[in-house]
Amino acid sequence: MANAARIAVVGSANTDLTTFTDVFPRPGETLFGKSFDLGFGGKGANQAVAARLCGAQVLMVAKVGSDLFGEATIRNFASFGIDTTHVQIIEGVSTGVAPIFVEPNGQNRIIVVKGANDRLTPADVDAAADALRRVDTIILQFEIPLETIYYTVRFARANKIRCIVNPAPAIPAELENLIAADYFIPNETEAELITGQPVRTPEEASLCAAGLLAKGFQRVVLTLGARGALVAGATGSTHVPAFPVTAVDTSGAGDAFIGSLAVFLAEGLSEPDAIARANLYAALSTTGVGTQKSFPKRADFEAQWARRRSESR
Ligand code: RIB
Repeated sequence: MANAARIAVVGSANTDLTTFTDVFPRPGETLFGKSFDLGFGGKGANQAVAARLCGAQVLMVAKVGSDLFGEATIRNFASFGIDTTHVQIIEGVSTGVAPIFVEPNGQNRIIVVKGANDRLTPADVDAAADALRRVDTIILQFEIPLETIYYTVRFARANKIRCIVNPAPAIPAELENLIAADYFIPNETEAELITGQPVRTPEEASLCAAGLLAKGFQRVVLTLGARGALVAGATGSTHVPAFPVTAVDTSGAGDAFIGSLAVFLAEGLSEPDAIARANLYAALSTTGVGTQKSFPKRADFEAQWARRRSESR
């Protein structure tokens, strides 16, 4: 087996407080939910865990608060074997938290309070520079300051390290500071907010991806939930279909896609193959409750991959 992929995530770590409910309260109303789950999350942390479960060596660069959740978050990373040398506790600040509400069909609504994630600065990237220079791929999302994201994209470019930018959650950003990334990977909602173009049909997805390429991005992967993903570059776009599953909780599926895709690409798989596999990895994550705890281990993923491939022949 080839050397393990080496992935770094410069990003967020949250504690997820997930409530499962049939209906949402109206203003002033109190309702009973069905059940509750407390778990480790945050888009950056989830991507790191997905990459690790897929077999990569993973370095996390992050900040957590000096509360109950901060220390526990670091222990959680360590329990997966993720390098936490550059995960720092910030005194007097809360760890990022995410109240999540999940409907019976698995669809989720999330509010993120960034807390310590907002304190991750370019100086933290400099402090981790020696370790970052040794990785194949750096992954970024939008739950840390944009200034740090722009700085890390430049760092990756200067050091010839593959860089994946996942603009989640979508906020207005200076795209010219992101286009040096090798991959820009929004979902439909994020792509709509960033481009102002609708993404309701495969044709609209193609047009939206073309719009992002016109802004200077090299490769765009638009994730389309249960419809799979669309990859676009200078030579055109290709739709990579999803794998059908019965979803119970879609939280973290986008993160599962990104973390696993980074590993499959770093292992040298072709882009279509890597995206197809990441589609399945993400789909499998929706069949369990929570974010990180629903991500499959590599061996379980490979068993499902072999089964689904043989069924489709
Ligand atoms: O993508 C899912 C993640 O979004 C959750 O883990 C939550 O923490 C928010 O960051």
